[in-house]
Amino acid sequence: MAMNPTQIRKVPIDAAALARFKKTFELINTHLYSVEERIRAQARAFDPAMEGYVEYVCNASGKRLRPALALLAGGSTGKITSSHVDLAVIIELIHIATLVHDDIMDGADLRREQPTVNAKWGNAISVLLGDALLAHAMRLATNFSETEVVRRIADAAAEVCTGEIIQTQRRFDLNLSVPDYYKIVEMKTGALFAAAAELGAFLSETTPERIGALKQFGLKLGTAYQVYDDCLDLVGTEEEIGKTLGSDLRKGKLTLPLIFLLQSARRSGDHHKVSALLLGGDEVEADKIVSMLLERGALEQTAQAAHRLVEEALVGLDALDENRFTSGLRGVGEYLQVLIRRVAG
Ligand code: IPE
Ligand code: IPE
Ligand code: MG
Ligand code: MG
Repeated sequence: MAMNPTQIRKVPIDAAALARFKKTFELINTHLYSVEERIRAQARAFDPAMEGYVEYVCNASGKRLRPALALLAGGSTGKITSSHVDLAVIIELIHIATLVHDDIMDGADLRREQPTVNAKWGNAISVLLGDALLAHAMRLATNFSETEVVRRIADAAAEVCTGEIIQTQRRFDLNLSVPDYYKIVEMKTGALFAAAAELGAFLSETTPERIGALKQFGLKLGTAYQVYDDCLDLVGTEEEIGKTLGSDLRKGKLTLPLIFLLQSARRSGDHHKVSALLLGGDEVEADKIVSMLLERGALEQTAQAAHRLVEEALVGLDALDENRFTSGLRGVGEYLQVLIRRVAG
């Protein structure tokens, strides 16, 4: 159900930024192709009873942002090797597993332009499919000779789950502060982006400074990406984004635009009215809330915060050597900034 009065579709994406972004993906095209093939081949590693489900989620068209980040980080600090491809596959499988679980929690029925696993086969199958994918990703990770890599991957996966749990515990909690929000988002989304970038650099055997710089870049980029996604959940269209939107409001997730709206309502004295609107749950009047977000500048304020976060991420790239992969990483950040501006209307 698309539900927005702003229609971000009407704002065309800046052609130059889009061209730069596409060029970035061309840089790593052959490696991304291998990642894609490997992901799609994973179903064969499972029992025939599972194969169909695994194939269903692995063949769906994700944007493969985390694999791209791992490969670009590898290239910016050294040579992209088959171990970077292995890393990219593992990170994406973890991401897919968390999406399968997330869609159960959000009661979503559309993901990557197709029905979710829970919509197709129910929650019981979905929980176990997510578990099996996560276990499989960890099994693949054992092929790395350095235990440190496996540990970092496991830590990131656990952090994603913890972030989702804290978010669930704080549903409909109007006291959720901006730092509380950022903590959740850094964990549920930043952590996997950070691991992709950090380990991409680690596998290139670069210096601890560069590994640390890329970890910070991934963390900030991933966090900003989730802030952008949280805006999309309010003002995006399912037709364009290809997944169920609007569930943050229905499930009581107090995302950054909503926190900023509450702050402005406190200042203008209609805090009680806005609080009641935000606690609407399944009956939530999303259109009314979106209009308020726009009128009171809460969406704009959110976009500015996300834009600044990407700016900080980009500054961190100065610690790396300049090469085409480093500028590719810049291109990804700058493209996200374009998308963020577009969502603010
Ligand atoms: C969706 O991630 C979940 C978030 C962290 C916002 P993506 O937007 O990367 O989803 P896919 O992988 O392209 O489907
Ligand atoms: C991101 O949160 C989910 C994970 C990090 C697993 P969302 O709930 O916003 O993701 P979407 O919008 O469903 O893709
Ligand atoms: Mg969700
Ligand atoms: Mg979302």
